Amino acid sequence: MIKTLMKQIKEYKLPSILTPLCMIGEVICEMVIPILMAKIVDDGIYGNNMGVIFKTGGLMVVIAILGLLAGLGGAYFGANASAGFAKNLRKAMFDNIQTFSFANIDKFSTSGLVTRLTTDVTNLQNAYMMILRMAMRAPASLVIAMVAAFTISARLSSIYLVAVLFLGSFIFFIMNRATRYFKQVFEKYDELNESVQENVSAIRVVKAYVREDYENDKFKKAAMNIYNMFVKAERNLVFMSPVMSATVYACILLMSWFGAHMIVGGELTTGNLMSLLTYCMSILMNLMMLGMIFVMMTMASASAKRIAEVIEEDTSIKNKENPVKEVKDGSITFEHVEFAYNQTSEEPVLKDINLEIKSGETIGIIGGTGSAKSSLVNLISRLYDVTGGKVMVGGVDVRDYDLETLRDQVSVVLQKNVLFSGSILDNLRWGDKNATEEDCKRACRMACADEFIEKMPNGYNTEIEQGGTNVSGGQRQRLCIARALLKKPKILILDDSTSAVDTSTDAKIRKAFAEEIPGTTKLIIAQRISSVQGCDRIVVMDDGKVNGFGSHEELLKTNDIYREVYESQTGASGDADFDQAG
Ligand SMILES: Nc1ncnc2c1ncn2[C@@H]1O[C@H](COP(=O)(O)OP(=O)(O)OP(=O)(O)O)[C@@H](O)[C@H]1O
Ligand SMILES: [Mg+2]
Repeated sequence: MIKTLMKQIKEYKLPSILTPLCMIGEVICEMVIPILMAKIVDDGIYGNNMGVIFKTGGLMVVIAILGLLAGLGGAYFGANASAGFAKNLRKAMFDNIQTFSFANIDKFSTSGLVTRLTTDVTNLQNAYMMILRMAMRAPASLVIAMVAAFTISARLSSIYLVAVLFLGSFIFFIMNRATRYFKQVFEKYDELNESVQENVSAIRVVKAYVREDYENDKFKKAAMNIYNMFVKAERNLVFMSPVMSATVYACILLMSWFGAHMIVGGELTTGNLMSLLTYCMSILMNLMMLGMIFVMMTMASASAKRIAEVIEEDTSIKNKENPVKEVKDGSITFEHVEFAYNQTSEEPVLKDINLEIKSGETIGIIGGTGSAKSSLVNLISRLYDVTGGKVMVGGVDVRDYDLETLRDQVSVVLQKNVLFSGSILDNLRWGDKNATEEDCKRACRMACADEFIEKMPNGYNTEIEQGGTNVSGGQRQRLCIARALLKKPKILILDDSTSAVDTSTDAKIRKAFAEEIPGTTKLIIAQRISSVQGCDRIVVMDDGKVNGFGSHEELLKTNDIYREVYESQTGASGDADFDQAG
């Protein structure tokens, strides 16, 4: 994990190294000043030597300025390195997410990915800055101050040793407790983000069901949870400051008491005592800083793990070596195909599917909800990989194709479809970025989308809002079909893509397909028998298995499920569907 993350430092290595160096420079300057101070007091004031005072004073000013510069440099490089690191992390995650297969996305969930890209990266960015600036500075400063103090007077400095041991164990105890709560806070953040995302992206449904109060409560609970955890964690930390102050004052008192005796006895100079008192503050402050770094690191490690998971995730679907770059024709073969979304689940979604579809055929697929129609067609363009058997397109196993080639030739209109923000033309050109306006219009004519587009005030330049919220469900479906047609695919799959389109338009679209793209293999998933009865052959799916495969007439004679649904959809009751038949 550390290695994965370190790799993302990339071009920010130099500032990452300069930051701690600057900080150490600052520490050295800070530590030299008390020594010079002692010299001024002892040699200058007590020795009555103005020359020493001026010279040493001048040196002090120079060193103070150097220290200031080093501190500024540390802050500047630290900010630069950590912001750059965060940028690289986000980019690495985003790039890898683009390669994710549907199965990878199922694993992380969308809201989880968003949290990782935002909150987690910010956490790590802050921690990285802190580590660069403090992880070297605090221990270095602690050690240097200790050594300096001991060289002045080992006997007096043993007071510090006791203080450090006492404060050190106290800080360790408190930080340990606080970390426990801080860790829980991050788990609660996930809950909060989920609540926000789910609510905001589905705000229309929330309103339609008047669930605002419920959602408010849910959010309040998640926010309260975080508040409580933070309060609990901070409650531990409040003891830090008073205990720290008490220790510092105790040290100063003891130092002054024993120091004064030693000065009177001639064992110590006044200047030295002054230096020792300055080191006192430095030693204990840095000890506390170390404690804070420890908390920060444990907090960040949860985020770091979550980020590394995304960067390290290997896409489950990728090209093999020397992939086939040409799809010969639009024939499709399923050979003993078995498929499960989750390898560990016992029951596969698709069981022993055997189908042979000729190039250019129009195939209807029909079956109850959850009978795995979508799962079946998603295997063709390799949105998921089979768990057993194989799917072949143009006589070649789909896993042997170059993914881009395959997906260009197998165009799918997904059941859950979205349009993106941009004009209608922009959206259509997802199918083919070089399509001319004439091409786009032709595709829209086939998909019967031209009628409503031309009625819009800006025609083909009408802006679509994010998610396609400013067009109706049926209009969106027709735009999605047009977008898929622009790919000029060898295989076109429509997954329930005309469910929101009225029956006569539905028929018009099918007629246009038959006339304009006769060579394309068409797979049409539908709930209405009328949508598929004109197809060359129809697959009847039932509970993940093929229950029947043949033309409308054949199925009417041989397939019970098909006949029952046909009769109920055309007969008097008219509203029955596959679920009732099944
Ligand atoms: N991403 C997924 N992860 C896990 N299980 C899934 C996933 N998608 C679908 N399933 C399961 O697979 C089964 C088949 O679903 P599928 O979407 O293929 O049905 P369908 O025939 O297309 O239904 P519908 O007519 O409602 O679209 C269902 O039991 C469903 O719970
Ligand atoms: Mg479906």
